Amino acid sequence: MTEPAPKRLHIKTYGCQMNVYDSERMADVLRPLGYALTDGPEGADLVVLNTCHIREKAAEKVYSELGRLKELREEKALAGGGRMTIAVAGCVAQAEGEEIMKRQPAVDLVLGPQAYHQFPELIARVSRARGERLAADFAPEDKFDALPAARHVDGPTAFLTVQEGCDKFCSFCVVPYTRGAEWSRPVQAVLAEARSLAEKGVREVTLLGQNVNAYDGAGPDGAPWTLARLARALADIEGLDRIRYTTSHPNDMGEDLIAAHGELEALMPYLHLPVQAGSDKVLRAMNRKHTAESYLRLVERIRAARPDIAMSGDFIVGFPGETEKDFEATLDLVRAVNYAAAFSFKYSRRPGTPAAAMAGQVAEEVADDRLQRLNALLDDQRQAFNASMVGRTLPVLFERPGRHPGQGVGRSPYLQGVHVSGAEHLRGRIVPVRIEAAGHNSLTGALLTREAA
Ligand code: 5AD
Ligand code: SF4
Repeated sequence: MTEPAPKRLHIKTYGCQMNVYDSERMADVLRPLGYALTDGPEGADLVVLNTCHIREKAAEKVYSELGRLKELREEKALAGGGRMTIAVAGCVAQAEGEEIMKRQPAVDLVLGPQAYHQFPELIARVSRARGERLAADFAPEDKFDALPAARHVDGPTAFLTVQEGCDKFCSFCVVPYTRGAEWSRPVQAVLAEARSLAEKGVREVTLLGQNVNAYDGAGPDGAPWTLARLARALADIEGLDRIRYTTSHPNDMGEDLIAAHGELEALMPYLHLPVQAGSDKVLRAMNRKHTAESYLRLVERIRAARPDIAMSGDFIVGFPGETEKDFEATLDLVRAVNYAAAFSFKYSRRPGTPAAAMAGQVAEEVADDRLQRLNALLDDQRQAFNASMVGRTLPVLFERPGRHPGQGVGRSPYLQGVHVSGAEHLRGRIVPVRIEAAGHNSLTGALLTREAA
């Protein structure tokens, strides 16, 4: 029997790291059916858009991409290249599946974040009944149970989903609606996946969850484990030297997790801990259930456990009712924390969320101006943090070759990209690097003589 030609699969991923993980797992599910990944959508047999619904702009991108895909699909058919199946997955699919199919008839398949293990079956149904469109929605436990154990690994770092969904209901956020209630994978399943990653050369895992520090997966005896306990077990796996986790809610930062930051060498000194705003009035309207002061005290306690920890955060400006004074409280909080990295967003009104109906929506120009001022401050802090590394020697996990011949690129414990010449051969190794210069987004360093080949 001759092998059939591989079918070409293109997956385009939008949004968060969990979508990156989901896209990899979709490729794993489709690989046994003969699908091989390609870089572009041109001529592909199956194109998947793995979408994000968090802000309006992210959702709108999907519709413009679908318009382009419709043309590529027609070109392919005209050239006698056969059918291009177009699937929309992820959070836009979950939130507006019906609307997608109405707005873009070229879409064959719509499947929510809990349905991608059903991909093979859905594809078979589409090819039998041309143009049939299917939406699917299942519980996360079904998905993880049905996923193939084998994961395709590319490089020494990997994402690993341990928790999904959110019960916090921040008033601006669609996640509790698109990803559903909080749910944690059982400990054994997480450890098994981590062991198989380590066997394939993965040195660093980033544990993913919308509220990852609320992790409470069942341990071997059925009793729940905290994220800290899970991290300790993961650190015992041979070859797994670095553990990160994202994203966390301040109210789920338990004492044992804070303590683990001081005790567990494998737990990297970088913490993404969104605060969103610095005004208590705005935090209340956001339904964050913490104050600026309680967040600052929490950061102090984390820093007492791990003094060099690099803090990162998410911020929203222009939330309904935000005054200039409220915004200045955000700037004050940023000054008090001193962030190594951050993500800042203009509030985006999301239909169906409580904030969408709130009075006092902030004018676009005002929000633009605040975003600019916040970004200027955050940029200064990031640059100062990067500059403080110059002259230090940091352990770098090399991940990939750089743009210049012989160059290797890796990450510092603080998640900074580090470019090093003569380091191409070090992929997958953790090696001390002397930091020589700090750029806007990354560092440059040199190997100590004994490491240079
Ligand atoms: N508008 C702007 N930013 C938002 N985020 C979530 N929802 C919205 C919204 N409606 C931001 C928050 C969150 C990050 C993932 O996205 O800062 O932490
Ligand atoms: Fe959204 Fe708040 Fe849940 Fe984060 S904690 S996913 S911002 S609702």
